[in-house]
Amino acid sequence: MCKIRNTTLALLGATLLSTTGAGAISLGEFEYRNSCVACHGESGKGDGPVSDFLSGAEVPDLTALQKNNNGVFPVSAAYEIIDGTAEVGAHGMRDMLIWGARYRMRAEADPDFVEPDAYVRTRILALIEYLVEIQE
Ligand code: HEC
Repeated sequence: MCKIRNTTLALLGATLLSTTGAGAISLGEFEYRNSCVACHGESGKGDGPVSDFLSGAEVPDLTALQKNNNGVFPVSAAYEIIDGTAEVGAHGMRDMLIWGARYRMRAEADPDFVEPDAYVRTRILALIEYLVEIQE
């Protein structure tokens, strides 16, 4: 039973990752729309509906990450910020959730699930791939 389930999930993941045709979205875009749009906005420019209600820093423009890093997309910095291993924001406070821990909880809540580390890494790398696509 759980074998079938894992296979289905793997196939679903592969489909999401490999379909780029009209109407289909990548896993990264799917995760972005689920987890990031509220603050960073559809466009990634930081104009999401929740951005006005945050007490701390402005929500940064995610389409300018590469431009702001001398034309090179900052892969490991972005990974650490999404994962939550990097401190962001003034005084070590962050408005942004720690997605690494969230994705891990989601995976660990289901004992039949795929390996949690792989689940977390796949989500974050897919998000980074999507962010690379939306750079100005
Ligand atoms: C609750 C609002 C909120 C959500 C949801 C959110 N972010 Fe953020 N994000 C922020 C804020 C605010 C910052 C600026 C640092 C801080 O204050 O935490 C930030 C910073 C970042 C940075 C660093 C940008 C830079 O200029 O260095 C990246 C990358 C990022 N977010 C990606 C994401 C991704 C990917 C998601 C979805 C998984 C996401 N964020 C979800 C609010 C959010």
